[in-house]
Amino acid sequence: MTDIASLQSQILADIAAAGDETALDAVRVATLGKKGSVSALLATMGKLSPEERKVQGPLFNGLKDAVAEAIAVRKAELADAALDARLASETVDVTLPPAPENGGTVHPISQVLEEITAIFADLGFAVAEGPDVEFDDYNFTKLNIPPDHPARQMQDTFYVSPQADGSSHVLRTHTSPVQVRAMLAAGKPPIRVISPGRTYRVDSDATHSPMFHQVEALVVDEGIHLGHLKWTVEEFCKAFFEIDQIELRARPSFFPFTEPSLEWDMRCDRSVPGQIRFGTGNDWLELGGSGMVHRKVLENCGFDAQKYTGFAFGFGLDRMAMLKYGIPDIRSFFESDLRWLRHYGFAALDIPTLDGGLSK
Ligand code: PHE
Repeated sequence: MTDIASLQSQILADIAAAGDETALDAVRVATLGKKGSVSALLATMGKLSPEERKVQGPLFNGLKDAVAEAIAVRKAELADAALDARLASETVDVTLPPAPENGGTVHPISQVLEEITAIFADLGFAVAEGPDVEFDDYNFTKLNIPPDHPARQMQDTFYVSPQADGSSHVLRTHTSPVQVRAMLAAGKPPIRVISPGRTYRVDSDATHSPMFHQVEALVVDEGIHLGHLKWTVEEFCKAFFEIDQIELRARPSFFPFTEPSLEWDMRCDRSVPGQIRFGTGNDWLELGGSGMVHRKVLENCGFDAQKYTGFAFGFGLDRMAMLKYGIPDIRSFFESDLRWLRHYGFAALDIPTLDGGLSK
């Protein structure tokens, strides 16, 4: 009679020694396969007397189960190792410059983000960041938009299912929650930050994408006033559109987190089809909202609103990028069409700087 224990330890050793999935499968066929050693053993059960079968049956089946189990475990190990090896062999060093023959280009939105960062860095602003999935509290409540406030309906929000800890999140509808994050992180003025990034609203047509980009600016210190806001917006627009002559218009507006609130437009000429000129013409390009930071927002972030004031603005980047680079449809930004990217993209190594040129 076959010594089951020694057969089992032999098979388990073979399984452990199988170096790849092919070798392991060979062990499986040689043991559990139709003509395998374990199957052959099980086939002898029919010839046993009922008494012998009572004793041997569980032993045979135990062997079969042990072998099957060991094969499954080893198979998973080998699959993990194969995946690790593949991942290691396929690593890409993303810090390497792209090979010229691959023709990679920088997306116009990335280019514009770099340009804006360069402009504001020159004015002494740091870049602040916040997540796309934001606390409802930061996106709304701390910005003086409490739950059930009608201003929540100003923006069509993508809500995220409530978390286990009861906190609720949204896809941020604007970059303004980064104001809250910047104030909470700094703890005290002075604050001078911009925050470019993605924002989301339930909206989609030729001029609206459900995901779009804004740049937020926030300055908080003693003695900050509307003049600082106006000057900053002007300098930003001149630098961004790379022209000295611009004309801005401020319209009174309403945002729960600023008081007073203003919206900014820039004079432009769109009378020649396919062309836009700034500084002349009878048309206005909408830039976005702004205002003096509401005292309740300062207080919600732990700032003394008697002592400090601030301004903020949040401008839409996609439309500004479309106008600067002559891109007609906002949706084409996000369609990942390589032909479009080759046409509108920027050379990967041209880093925008104010002295070297923003968009050359
Ligand atoms: N968050 C506002 C919007 O998305 C813009 C804004 C930012 C207004 C900062 C005032 C101050 O429309």
